[in-house]
Amino acid sequence: LNHSEIPPFTIEDNTDGGDEIRMKYRYLDLRRTLVRKNLELRHRMAHLVRNYLDSERFMEVETPVLIKSTPEGARDFVVPSRMNQGQFYALPQSPQTFKQLLMVAGFDRYYQIVKCFRDEDLRADRQPEFTQIDCEMSFVERDDVLNIFEGMIRHLFKELRGIDIPELPRMSWQDAMEYYGCDKPDIRFDMRFVNLSDIAKNKEFAVFNDSEYIGAICAPGCAAYTRKQLDELTEFVKRPQVGAKGLVYVKYNEDGTLKSSVDKFYDENDLKAWATACNAKPGDLMLVLCGPKNKTLAQLCDLRLEMGERLGLRDKNVFKPLWVVDFPLLEWDEETQRFYAMHHPFTSPNPEDIDMMESNPGAVRANAYDMVINGVEVGGGSIRIHDTELQQRMFRCLGFTPEQADKQFGFLLNAFKYGAPPHGGIAFGFDRLVSMFAGLDSIRDTIAFPKNNSGRDVMIDSPSEISEEQFKELGIGLTR
Ligand code: AMO
Repeated sequence: LNHSEIPPFTIEDNTDGGDEIRMKYRYLDLRRTLVRKNLELRHRMAHLVRNYLDSERFMEVETPVLIKSTPEGARDFVVPSRMNQGQFYALPQSPQTFKQLLMVAGFDRYYQIVKCFRDEDLRADRQPEFTQIDCEMSFVERDDVLNIFEGMIRHLFKELRGIDIPELPRMSWQDAMEYYGCDKPDIRFDMRFVNLSDIAKNKEFAVFNDSEYIGAICAPGCAAYTRKQLDELTEFVKRPQVGAKGLVYVKYNEDGTLKSSVDKFYDENDLKAWATACNAKPGDLMLVLCGPKNKTLAQLCDLRLEMGERLGLRDKNVFKPLWVVDFPLLEWDEETQRFYAMHHPFTSPNPEDIDMMESNPGAVRANAYDMVINGVEVGGGSIRIHDTELQQRMFRCLGFTPEQADKQFGFLLNAFKYGAPPHGGIAFGFDRLVSMFAGLDSIRDTIAFPKNNSGRDVMIDSPSEISEEQFKELGIGLTR
């Protein structure tokens, strides 16, 4: 019906086209079954989500895209206004404030499958424009929200993958950090951290004695690791991205003997005590890191994931979702010497901790939760503050003057004066969910026309310069 030129790459699953060329000719790339399948999955998931939420009496409401900044912690994309020269709209990082206003307006159960925009550094699981399944409910407490959305995820697994997901475990943020070194633990495998700080500081080993924290993981069946394999692991933890100074290992040999890289300082009895603490069995390998606590926990987290990978314990067809709950309300930033909201400034403190907001703000827990699947944060939300006075206290904790708070969020504070119901919600990263269900490493292939790692669309060549005429119309000074 039409003449076709020879395509710039073979349109087959195993294509010879590199990343750049496929993105430039994305409409040809989309002809490949592998890529098309992901978009079909995306379509089916959106359909199932809409049906599920509709059956739970949620109503889809669209919120505006040209708005004022929403504080989700990233930079805003801004759009100049021609009619209001010198002024800018911001693109929403999420519909957060609007969905709360909908609650004040009496739309008890809102959802929207919605584009969000964040000007942040890109990674495999981040795009500058991405899609959320954004939801909010009135007259609810935390468990109501968790139950409804746990139901949604289980429904999706059942319908799309034929998998029955049991009730989701809940883990406190504190435990996630202590035992997995991060707030999005991959619980497809165990290898929880064991704190050896109390039992390993009893000898002349200065490196341990001078450390705030000593932590171990126990890699099952790895006692037979060769010198080369152990060197590889040491190299791994010493990479700048991980940043450990070194790695201590203890082999619990099949014959019951123990051999370590610190035999000079620790005898069999000492090592036996470590093995008991780690619940290690003959044939296992213990890997130990030490240093400042938070840093070491993060390094152990990398090492644990690496061991999980090496041992084939991170199977893409196994799904282990969980809720991480009780996040801290605030996060201290050394650079600017102030607290920031860990989730966002509308998140309610845990009622038991409200009294500490002024005296010990760092210790206040938030009524916030994340859903994590296989080490990926797929969704997050919270019960909100619905009381003007508490919201003002929160702004004070964040260092806002009443004038600043009023200038930025006056509309919300005002709305709360007219009978705001208790409310809370959650937003899922839709692209992340699709990529999880499709077994992809990046969210890019779940998006028809994604941006590359520098935030560019190489097909339409955007962002691009605009004409002098446009600059003039917008009242923006020319930079060229
Ligand atoms: P949050 O900022 O945690 O919460 O975002 C919710 C979910 O959106 C996904 N996500 C992203 N996906 C792709 N690219 C990105 N750049 C990106 N950033 C976030 C993640 C994340 O869990 N308004 C609150 C939600 C609420 O409190 O109800 C919010 O946006 O999967």
